[in-house]
Amino acid sequence: MSINSDIRPRVIALANQKGGVGKTTTAINLATALAAIGEEVLLIDLDPQGNASTGLGIGRDERDISAYDLMDGSATLKQAVQPTAVPQLSIVPATLDLLGVETEIAGATDRMFRLKKAVAGHLGRNPDFTYILIDCPPSLNLLTLNALAAANGVLVPLQTEFFALEGLSQLLSTVDQVRQTLNNQLSIQGIVLTMYDKRNGLAKQVMEDVRENMGDLVYDTVIPRNVRVSEAPSFGKPVLLYDMKCAGSQAYLKLASQVIQREKLHNKRRAEA
Ligand SMILES: Nc1ncnc2c1ncn2[C@@H]1O[C@H](COP(=O)(O)OP(=O)(O)OP(=O)(O)O)[C@@H](O)[C@H]1O
Ligand SMILES: [Mg+2]
Repeated sequence: MSINSDIRPRVIALANQKGGVGKTTTAINLATALAAIGEEVLLIDLDPQGNASTGLGIGRDERDISAYDLMDGSATLKQAVQPTAVPQLSIVPATLDLLGVETEIAGATDRMFRLKKAVAGHLGRNPDFTYILIDCPPSLNLLTLNALAAANGVLVPLQTEFFALEGLSQLLSTVDQVRQTLNNQLSIQGIVLTMYDKRNGLAKQVMEDVRENMGDLVYDTVIPRNVRVSEAPSFGKPVLLYDMKCAGSQAYLKLASQVIQREKLHNKRRAEA
């Protein structure tokens, strides 16, 4: 049995209830980088804003079957998945309907597990994804809880700014609660610092603070603030397709290989436990 075969696919939720910290940018570009280095990747856009879908070039009129249909149980994952311009990267797009799903399924006993069921129903089917990334909305709502219930790992993007750590303890305690109630498989995959500006002395201090507080959970790779990264979505492209050589692309490639390394280590520890 290969090291990776016991937990396949790896399901990683990109979560932080704070808005604008780089969740979607990281979801799009980490997914692309993982696909570029040989993984079969699915990105589930679970944010009603639908920014991950737009950023990957999926127009609003191309979202007939979406994450909403997974959540209300009217479509299977296979039906909702569509290809992107990136080889080996598929997406389940999001629409504004997702805003209403919380009230629509509020009375259902399985409301926390809708996404988990959809993912589980796909196991062993084609395409056989090795990584599923879930882009969460900026809230600890039912959508994010569904992502955490379906995931093995949580990847937390933190913007390198003065209030970076604010709200992190709330997120970590939510992850703890989810582990105790909905999903005992859940772990923190890692924390990734985003939008780092090396010319800004405060950013450096924030980075050091976060590393001191969160230790090994913080990835060595830091995503720099890079104008190419912010331009790419308006072309419907991940930055790796827009400008492969820029510092942002290179950072996401490095992050992808660190994510894979961490997963291998994690699986090895589980196998030995
Ligand atoms: N490395 C970067 N360099 C420059 N700009 C960036 C970088 N990462 C993200 N941005 C920009 O910052 C803004 C917020 O990023 P993003 O949409 O990824 O955050 P988010 O956490 O998904 O936001 P929300 O909470 O609204 O879903 C966007 O305009 C994006 O283009
Ligand atoms: Mg977002």
